[in-house]
Amino acid sequence: MNQKLFSYIEACTTPYQAIAHTAGILRDAGYTHLNESDSWTLEAGKGYFVTRNGSSLIAFRVPDTIGGFMMTAAHCDSPCFKIKENAQLNGQNYVQLSVERYGGMLMATWMDKPLSVAGRVLVRTERGIETRFVDFKEPVALIPNLAIHMNRKANDGMTYNAAVDMLPLYSQDKEVSFRSRVAELAGVQEEALLTTDLFLYNPQKGYAWDNFVSAPRLDDLQCAFGSLEAFLSAEQAKNVPVYCLFDNEEVGSTTKQGAASTFLKDVLLRICAESGLSETDYRRCVANSFLISCDNAHAVHPNHPEYMDKNHAVYMNGGIVIKYNAGQKYTSDAVSAAIFQSVCDEAGVPFQRYANRADLMGGSTLGNIANTQVSLNTVDIGLAQLAMHSSFETAGGKDTEYMVRALKCFFEKRLIMTTDGSYTIE
Ligand code: CO
Repeated sequence: MNQKLFSYIEACTTPYQAIAHTAGILRDAGYTHLNESDSWTLEAGKGYFVTRNGSSLIAFRVPDTIGGFMMTAAHCDSPCFKIKENAQLNGQNYVQLSVERYGGMLMATWMDKPLSVAGRVLVRTERGIETRFVDFKEPVALIPNLAIHMNRKANDGMTYNAAVDMLPLYSQDKEVSFRSRVAELAGVQEEALLTTDLFLYNPQKGYAWDNFVSAPRLDDLQCAFGSLEAFLSAEQAKNVPVYCLFDNEEVGSTTKQGAASTFLKDVLLRICAESGLSETDYRRCVANSFLISCDNAHAVHPNHPEYMDKNHAVYMNGGIVIKYNAGQKYTSDAVSAAIFQSVCDEAGVPFQRYANRADLMGGSTLGNIANTQVSLNTVDIGLAQLAMHSSFETAGGKDTEYMVRALKCFFEKRLIMTTDGSYTIE
């Protein structure tokens, strides 16, 4: 399972590569790619997926009768550096790339390691404009630290200025045009290259050691992978199993393809409409639906256990983390946590409960944001990990398997609201 996770992460270098790779897995499993601009013909017993912007994806299977949606959502973006449009900075002896921050990364972890570049580009063709995915795969840049001799205070707390300290070294040869290499990878002449969405990424391979896994982008590709495995292995259910993979979580989700967009609602409405259901039927379905928002959680730090709430400390390999927050940054409440716990119990999967220390602000995630478009019972869960938003993170080697087992069980269920607050799970 861990080696399979590592090869998924290796392929999913940016959201564009993640969606293309996930789409490939779905296609191989017999799923049909639906275009949002086409009319859809849905057949019971078949699987489908929709992509938006090439960076978000929703997959589902159609049962004989639609009673509701059993959904998971994870995100495919990770904090990194975006390469600006006019990227090449030609200096006296060095060529650097102009970058800016995407999300809130631990900047120091991006230094002194070979980095690669991937993303999408738009090219001009005879038919119009077209998207091409590009991935350099090999190391092409590096952000060097300043030697200790030039800053004796480097170990006493560093501050980093993204505009000064984080510019990657690209080459010593001004003739090695970055743009022409990108065009070559995209299979076009440089004149045909219109614009780019390119990012630096850590190409390091994952390691399994002791009971741990260490790899880039575990937040949130561990959940993206775990929920995908569960979705694909689940038996045909009485409800519609829905797998969501969203872009832009790390920058607030408010894009046309992010969790705050209408993407999920649009797809659910169309599943109903194309199956001959009314808008009222859609609303009844949503009341009998459930969303599991899957995003990694903070494990107790071995050197800094003091950052944990004493009774809500979670550990790697301790099972699935249910996240709570009174301010509802995490959507879990008594109802949704109770429903999720029953699923874990039935699957024989351990779970643990997380809440931030009352004096620490936690992060936000997908669940509460998705609820602004499709409002339904939602639980926030994740897998415990260390060094969240480092360019190389560490998590539990057993937890991915726990997630697959619990979510497989979930996808096979049907939820029926008997009265508000009371549910039958069958
Ligand atoms: Co995350």
